[in-house]
Amino acid sequence: MKTDILLGLQWGDEGKGKIVDVLAPDYEVITRFQGGPNAGHSLEFKGKKFILHTIPSGVFRKDKLNIIGNGVVIDPVIFAEEIQSLKNEGIELNKENLLISTKAHLILPTHRLLDAASEAFKGGSKIGSTLKGIGPTYMDKTGRNGLRLGDIIRPGFMGKYKALTLKHKDLLNMYHYKGEQDDYEKKWFDGIEVIRSFDLVESEYRINRLLDDGRNILAEGAQGTLLDIDFGTYPYVTSSNTITAGALTGLGLAPSRIGHVKGIFKAYCTRVGSGPFPTELHNEKGEFLRQKGHEYGATTGRPRRCGWLDLPALRYAIMLNGVTELIMTKPDVLSGLESFMICTHYQIDGKNTNQLPYSLEDNIKPVYKSFKGWSQDISGIRMYRDLPEELKAYKNFIEKETGIPITIISVGPDREAVVMIEK
Ligand code: IMP
Repeated sequence: MKTDILLGLQWGDEGKGKIVDVLAPDYEVITRFQGGPNAGHSLEFKGKKFILHTIPSGVFRKDKLNIIGNGVVIDPVIFAEEIQSLKNEGIELNKENLLISTKAHLILPTHRLLDAASEAFKGGSKIGSTLKGIGPTYMDKTGRNGLRLGDIIRPGFMGKYKALTLKHKDLLNMYHYKGEQDDYEKKWFDGIEVIRSFDLVESEYRINRLLDDGRNILAEGAQGTLLDIDFGTYPYVTSSNTITAGALTGLGLAPSRIGHVKGIFKAYCTRVGSGPFPTELHNEKGEFLRQKGHEYGATTGRPRRCGWLDLPALRYAIMLNGVTELIMTKPDVLSGLESFMICTHYQIDGKNTNQLPYSLEDNIKPVYKSFKGWSQDISGIRMYRDLPEELKAYKNFIEKETGIPITIISVGPDREAVVMIEK
């Protein structure tokens, strides 16, 4: 068997959580392969909203095995809170349905402080990080200083913890950072106990064996392609590989183990935090998208920046990920607009191009094509034939321009609000 991958093609917040939940019945195992509590995967059903940060979005479907892979970074406080809030909803996670890699790295309380200190130091050029300690944790991972989950079940853990914390304190002094720790460290050690109650495993072996045994696996990406550490809008990116390649290293999979790659994109674009965004709208249409689409960060509550769909960026993401099918989310937000736009190419120094330049800050002028809007509410539609002709025209145009079929259109936040398109 091969692993299918589902990932975001923009700057995150494309609706991955909901779509994983929709697709989960087709899979036996759901995995996360990178990122950490900077992610906020939202799901809605029975009138309730849930936000997951570290735990795979398969947990709301019965009898699924969820695996947190080695590429993920875990904050024990947030992990324990997530386990508790799921328990409050009657979803009991245990050794049977959640496995965690021994090789996943731990976010220490001091990593969070370092994140805040580094952002404060950057001043006007700050990344707009979620301040969950993601960057400093991946820095310690690649710097070969990090603590892994496997360390918490081996002798010498406290010594390693203290040594790394001391090093961080020196760095914080260098930044002249005066942030307070309050009782985070105590909660952190309580969270370590919660993690210890789960099976910490060599997940690369488990996952490959599950595939050998013919199990269907779905790997759930976090953030989005344009936030990828190598190919995103550097330095305004996250600190992991958010693309298909990240699923290989973040789970321990060979390239031949990859099956379908399902790429999710919003019918428009959003971005939270700093960094270039060529199609950003600074007018009432941007505000319309923000209000109608409830475009506020699931992790930080920050208002998201909104703009039109960017085809050069979408094609770039399709190329990097080897996308085999597309999933469009939130076209329902466009309902009520007389017209809307799509950026078909860029003009840089008077020349037309389809290619993303070295930096998206380089003097880019997006060139747009206008589409006629529709007025009706589409959130109750479940059959493709019932969608407005104007939306079908938009879908057909995107398919023609990218060469990739759109197989699902999500028309509202609820798990039922999807239009599955026959291939
Ligand atoms: P960090 O990963 O928290 O360091 O944040 C780096 C950048 O990625 C910031 O602009 C964040 O707003 C953005 N970011 C991180 N995680 C997410 C996500 O899950 N959705 C959207 N943006 C994110």
